[in-house]
Amino acid sequence: MTFEGRVAIVTGGARGIGEGIASALAAGGAKIAIFDLDGEAAEATAAALGVEAIGLAVDCIEETDVAAATEKVVARFGAIDILANNAGAGRGPIDLSQFQGQEGLLRGGALSDNQAQWDLTLAQNLRTTFLASKAAVPHIAARGGGSIVNIASIAGQVASPTLAAYAAAKAGVISLTRSMALELGPKGIRVNAICPGFLWTRAWEGLATSIQMSNPAMKDLTPREVFLNVVKQGVPLGREQTPADIGNLAAFLSSDLGMNITGQAIAVDGGITLR
Ligand SMILES: NC(=O)c1ccc[n+]([C@@H]2O[C@H](COP(=O)([O-])OP(=O)(O)OC[C@H]3O[C@@H](n4cnc5c(N)ncnc54)[C@H](O)[C@@H]3O)[C@@H](O)[C@H]2O)c1
Repeated sequence: MTFEGRVAIVTGGARGIGEGIASALAAGGAKIAIFDLDGEAAEATAAALGVEAIGLAVDCIEETDVAAATEKVVARFGAIDILANNAGAGRGPIDLSQFQGQEGLLRGGALSDNQAQWDLTLAQNLRTTFLASKAAVPHIAARGGGSIVNIASIAGQVASPTLAAYAAAKAGVISLTRSMALELGPKGIRVNAICPGFLWTRAWEGLATSIQMSNPAMKDLTPREVFLNVVKQGVPLGREQTPADIGNLAAFLSSDLGMNITGQAIAVDGGITLR
């Protein structure tokens, strides 16, 4: 896969899955712009990629922030060919810590009591994807086409009562992917979603701690051991997923090898969603 002469934006690319995507695209020679809340980490990750790359402090929830950063990328690199909408968060604090000990987000009035949390989760995962796409699409179209990859989640594909806000947001990302694929196809822009399974990133560290707190049998385990237990029980292939796994598929979908694939949501989950 080669991305020589192509320019990619990766949102939330300072660490975790986003860093995996940035590395996979950089391995094919793409120029990379990382947008992240953590500007210092974005710069450090960009500097380590071994290609022309920049890291910018951007909150992808804010339209003016995303639009200004996108124009900076065009001013620096002259074009945009690829967008990876990976910025997202909110699953631990909203659905496990906040509602710890309750029966679930949709029961007991928890949802109405926590409207701000609900709105934030939708914004962190769905509005970010919409806004970064809105800013980048005219530039990708000006190149005669390109690729957008949206990072959803298996939580958007299966029912999950304790992750309702996050699940709804990620299902929204999958639906938005289909609408964008249909509407942007005539401009040569392909739009696909990836649904990652279980990855040991910062997001999962918080989740493992919450699972441990609600499960006395796990009290003597480290968060990493809790995570490996979940992997052992829930993943048919018996192994955790990695940022490189997600990065490799994002690169394939964004390359010419994926030129007939659009509007799809592909799970990289070791078979979790088979049952
Ligand atoms: N870790 C998993 O198991 C898993 C599974 C399925 C889906 N996902 C999704 O993958 C994506 C990346 O998650 P991760 O596990 O790498 O998390 P992470 O916390 O390790 O990294 C997320 C990065 O995104 C940045 N970010 C968050 N909100 C942002 C915003 N509004 N604007 C700009 N940057 C922002 C953070 O600063 C951070 O650097 C998320 O969309 C997440 O929902 C993760």
